[in-house]
Amino acid sequence: MVNTPLDGNQTSSDSSSVDIVPLVWLSAALAALAGLMFGLDIGVISGALGLIKEEFHVSTLTEGWIVSSMMGGAAVGALGAGWVSNSWGRKNALLAASVLFFVGALVVAMAPNVDIIIVGRILLGLAVGVASFTAPLYLSEIAPERIRGTMISFYQLMVTVGILAAFVSGLAFSYIHSWRGMFGILCVPSAVLFIGVLLVPNSPRWLASRDRFDEAKEMLGKLRASRAEVEKEMSEITAAVNSDDHTSGWKLLARNSNFRRSVALGIALQLVQQFTGMNAMMYFAPRIFEQTGFGSEAQLWSTVLVGLVNVLATVIAIGFVDRIGRKPILYLGFTVMAAGLAVVAAIMAVGASTSFLQFTALIALLVFVAGFAMSAGPLVWTLCSEIQPLAGRDFGISCSTFANWASNMALGAFFLLMLNNLGGPVTFGIMCVCNLLYIVFTWAFIPETKGVSLEHIERNLMSGKPLRQIGR
Ligand code: BGC
Repeated sequence: MVNTPLDGNQTSSDSSSVDIVPLVWLSAALAALAGLMFGLDIGVISGALGLIKEEFHVSTLTEGWIVSSMMGGAAVGALGAGWVSNSWGRKNALLAASVLFFVGALVVAMAPNVDIIIVGRILLGLAVGVASFTAPLYLSEIAPERIRGTMISFYQLMVTVGILAAFVSGLAFSYIHSWRGMFGILCVPSAVLFIGVLLVPNSPRWLASRDRFDEAKEMLGKLRASRAEVEKEMSEITAAVNSDDHTSGWKLLARNSNFRRSVALGIALQLVQQFTGMNAMMYFAPRIFEQTGFGSEAQLWSTVLVGLVNVLATVIAIGFVDRIGRKPILYLGFTVMAAGLAVVAAIMAVGASTSFLQFTALIALLVFVAGFAMSAGPLVWTLCSEIQPLAGRDFGISCSTFANWASNMALGAFFLLMLNNLGGPVTFGIMCVCNLLYIVFTWAFIPETKGVSLEHIERNLMSGKPLRQIGR
């Protein structure tokens, strides 16, 4: 265990009087723009798919490829992102992601055939993989710990805004039948992201991990309001960098059982997030609304409503994450999700025969979405970037982000099969039970990291404390 002059709890109470400099907000806004791109990419396909199908007469199998090629690219991108952001730095990784976004969007928008659409979707996926890895990591490294949760949740808010914007633009462009427009417009935020990232500072923690301590201190000076804060944080970072176990990646994994625990927790958190079933709503909402008895126009508008509730409920998480903590919000979120799913399963079992039952099913699905958006949506990304030790942070987050995209892809591939073969009541019943089990998982394994410095979490992890106690 590394001894530093500071204790994390002490740090958190001290910092309550500390100002946040504007550059922190600017950097946060730009990293969050990467979240917007993430959301646009997730949401764009739901509106575009029907039109692409109409133009190229594709088979159901090819349709599947068009959807999942992006997630496959993202899984690969997330794996490569660890290396890129470790050797090139967080800033350059975000720049690379914005270039990939731009090129990918352009390739799809101008594609002469389906093969090229798939190539463009893979490029977009690579971009999302790199961005979804780097942006929360960068935010966690530049944020003062008092507002760390808020800032990473803000990133998730942008993901949800992106999804909503894509749903709305899908609806708008569908009137002029232009799926190319839906993709082409993505070039604009990619260009803004590129230019914006050029302006933000490098992560002091990354600089220190490359033994560039002077630059790290200089950057920290720009990001903190007082000298005292800079000195305090720099001594923590230096202690973490100089700790005994400064091996990284696979070597650290092989050598250090405590690191294996944090990597396993990160992967488990992302699997839990995906197997809440949220993306079933993101990708197949119209289909689910069809099963609860909605006509085609109502299906599209209800989908936009899903996007809207997703945004609004994320705002709740932002307001509370650094006030009441991660665990209480997760308990509440999983309970709300399980309740919503139980109601949907029950209505599907008896058949949504009356408009009252249809309306109740819609509300229950929205309750489910709200439950996710206020809890597992933002908090899983927050926790994943908080629990890894500095030496293995890139590797650990790379593994968990890969798990997010791989399970995302699996859900995309199997959800409709489940729905068709097992039926609505069983499928939603299974999802409900899973969410109930996650309450136990939260109690048993998830630490409370509210207001605790990353270095303090690292010391607790490396000293062998049970995972649920590595926070406060
Ligand atoms: C998840 C995505 C999901 C989105 C929905 C994110 O936290 O990782 O898979 O589509 O939330 O808002």
